[in-house]
Amino acid sequence: MTSRFDPSAPTRDAETLARAIEDHLACPRCHDRVTVRAAEIRCSRAGCGFTGAMADGIAVMRGQRDGSFFDDKHGVMEHGSAEPGVRRCCYAEQATVIESVIPAGAVVVDVGCGPALPYQRAKPGTLIGVDLSYESLRANTEVDIRVYGSAAELPLADASVDAIVSLYAIHHFGGQTRRENERRVARGFAEFGRVLKPGGSLFIFELSPWWPIWQLQCATWNLVRKLMPSMDIFFWLENRLLNVAAAHLGRAATLRRVRFQAPALTPIPPVFACPSLKIPRFLFPFHVHLYHWTV
Ligand SMILES: C[S@@+](CC[C@H](N)C(=O)[O-])C[C@H]1O[C@@H](n2cnc3c(N)ncnc32)[C@H](O)[C@@H]1O
Ligand SMILES: [Zn+2]
Repeated sequence: MTSRFDPSAPTRDAETLARAIEDHLACPRCHDRVTVRAAEIRCSRAGCGFTGAMADGIAVMRGQRDGSFFDDKHGVMEHGSAEPGVRRCCYAEQATVIESVIPAGAVVVDVGCGPALPYQRAKPGTLIGVDLSYESLRANTEVDIRVYGSAAELPLADASVDAIVSLYAIHHFGGQTRRENERRVARGFAEFGRVLKPGGSLFIFELSPWWPIWQLQCATWNLVRKLMPSMDIFFWLENRLLNVAAAHLGRAATLRRVRFQAPALTPIPPVFACPSLKIPRFLFPFHVHLYHWTV
């Protein structure tokens, strides 16, 4: 796929963006090419019928636009990830890893990119940010192509991207029940495997709960979800997540795991929305992991 898109060019007018979308995105249903005409994005396969839209410079690649828990929380997300303890535990070393492994010129997808990138992106290169929060995408000025879409239905062609990064998004792939959570995560991994080029890399950064927290979460999640419909968070125990990934990535993959260990006394707010409530890192009941697959 040849790109006529230079993301480092100072002006990215609508026409340039439209061509970049045609070069890099695909129909989320049939994965065929799309065309962009003014505000309409259309699948080029006869009979598919998918249409998306351009709005606010965002490629809307889903049939409908739903509200997201994160729409009015992207400020919290931005401040939370910049908070020194959170940065130290969850983003600083992680950013170094991403910055050191993504080569210039690569086509990279950030799944659940949120409102701001916690790492320096490779330039030149093409960075596609996919998120289900429209307002987070509107705030994100760092990715080249902003895509309103889901990990479960990536609007990308098969074997079209060099790397996928996803920071702390998997624990938000929540459904109505634990079984549905697993189906959504499985679907995400199947999509990651489909769109990565052979030899491509998948970098998943996630929090995995300590065993008692996992047990408590499993025992209460379905009920809590019923009582609090907006609560979509489900943290995956390391091996459970790796089993789902192994079953659904769809290709032989090699796995490297990294456990990040910030100093034990690093103060960290366990809840982003309450930045003044802090506990030392050694009491924070989660491990911070990178799972890196090469497919
Ligand atoms: C905790 S935030 C992390 C944002 C950013 N990666 C960071 O670490 O600063 C999780 C993000 O994942 C997005 N998200 C949740 N489910 C998603 C899905 N199925 N597909 C794409 N993005 C999703 C949310 O909208 C949210 O922006
Ligand atoms: Zn289609």
